[in-house]
Amino acid sequence: MTSARTGSAPVDASPSAFPPGFLWGAATAAYQIEGAVDVGGRTPSIWDTFSRTPGRTAGGDTGDRATEHYRRYRQDVRLMSELGLGAYRFSVSWPRVQPTGRGPAVEPGLDFYRRLVDELLEHGIQPALTLYHWDLPQDLEDLGGWPARSTAERFADYAALVADALGDRVGIWTTLNEPWCSAFLGYGSGVHAPGRTDWTAALRAAHHLNLGHGLAVEALRTVLPRDARIAVSLNLHEVRPLTASAADREAARRIDAVGNRVFTGPMLNGAYPDDLLADTEHLVDWQALVHDGDPATIARPVDLLGVNYYTPTVVSALPHGQDPDPATAGEAGHGDGAQSPFAGCADVLFHRAPGPRTVMGWPIDPSGLTDLLLRLHREHPGLPLMVTENGAAFDDRLTPEGTVHDPQRIDYLRGHLDAVRRAIAAGADVRGYFLWSLMDNFEWAWGYGKRFGLYHVDYATQTRTAKDSARWYAEVIRRNTLPD
Ligand code: NOJ
Repeated sequence: MTSARTGSAPVDASPSAFPPGFLWGAATAAYQIEGAVDVGGRTPSIWDTFSRTPGRTAGGDTGDRATEHYRRYRQDVRLMSELGLGAYRFSVSWPRVQPTGRGPAVEPGLDFYRRLVDELLEHGIQPALTLYHWDLPQDLEDLGGWPARSTAERFADYAALVADALGDRVGIWTTLNEPWCSAFLGYGSGVHAPGRTDWTAALRAAHHLNLGHGLAVEALRTVLPRDARIAVSLNLHEVRPLTASAADREAARRIDAVGNRVFTGPMLNGAYPDDLLADTEHLVDWQALVHDGDPATIARPVDLLGVNYYTPTVVSALPHGQDPDPATAGEAGHGDGAQSPFAGCADVLFHRAPGPRTVMGWPIDPSGLTDLLLRLHREHPGLPLMVTENGAAFDDRLTPEGTVHDPQRIDYLRGHLDAVRRAIAAGADVRGYFLWSLMDNFEWAWGYGKRFGLYHVDYATQTRTAKDSARWYAEVIRRNTLPD
């Protein structure tokens, strides 16, 4: 989101406690942790295909084994219980429950999630289920993937199957996780599966992800009990112009359009913003792409907006006549004056603010989270917010004594939780916080080298070890406040 300010948000910092009933959680995603990729009739997803293609992931890492959560889920739920989590956000693997992306569900696939959900409930942990965290069945990609309209329709069928099976036990349902990544990294820059580099396809994918979301909300409303809460999780960019110049502010507007409002426009305001349509008309015939009735479908109301935040996005205008290399630098797309995942959609430069960074290279700036939450609160009053992802990767080392000291992660979390608290104190209706991630896992194109977990995973033995941050987070949860 574009913010006028570039510093920290000057809002009241008290009181120090979180509201009663604030939901404390941790998050994961199926392909990043489950392994067991050929068990129970599961077929390849686009991430199986992509990660097995030489050169696509760091070290050729794949999710074949991951953290073996599929068979270790009971142990993992015990870890959640040790933390005192109120909720656990996980995703369902589409090709595990509906292998070709069409037709009936397969029972072994659904059974895994039934067992997981039962285990969570027995431990008093609320399941928060995400239907799509990037693992499209390869069969559907072969039929055109997200750039094809039919994928949106298949997604709604799949949503109904999962809701039929788990609707009586799961209270929080998220349609899509970070559709921006699916569309722009998957089909534009190509650094995520399926690895296509076609900006027209990326924008078509964005529309069909929006449509799939709306159709899925409709399907979920007909199947789920009335008190189920339906959400979508967006990685909204807190876009800041490098300088106050008109050219840099225009660069920020363009990224806000193609990075944020391409989703929030149709989902929350009922239409694609005019400036986005104008900026991208050379790539897409929007009139042909958006059918009558699509805007109303996409705008079906949600009960919660999930916000995933890691770092702000600082942009400047491309100096006149410059033709930079199309460089990409990770999910957030930050480079030092580099062009980034929006290359084909908006020619701007990305900058990393000076100061501390995580090992992803992402600058650490909690004020972006406060600003983002407050902007959403202002622009969508009455829509409850939930931080569905926030966290950091650092070079964590297991000591010979079997401990992991990660003071940087604790600092990161303290700063960002304080940022959430400030937003709440200033009026934002934030209902909960899900830390990314419960345990170290497969960080997509970065493989296993980037560790985001509260629990360290030794990939050779699959041993989980609580990092210092896990104990710190447990204390935050127990006290519902930040320790001094
Ligand atoms: C966002 C994604 O949803 C998640 O899968 C990823 O691991 C984290 N960010 C960290 O990059």
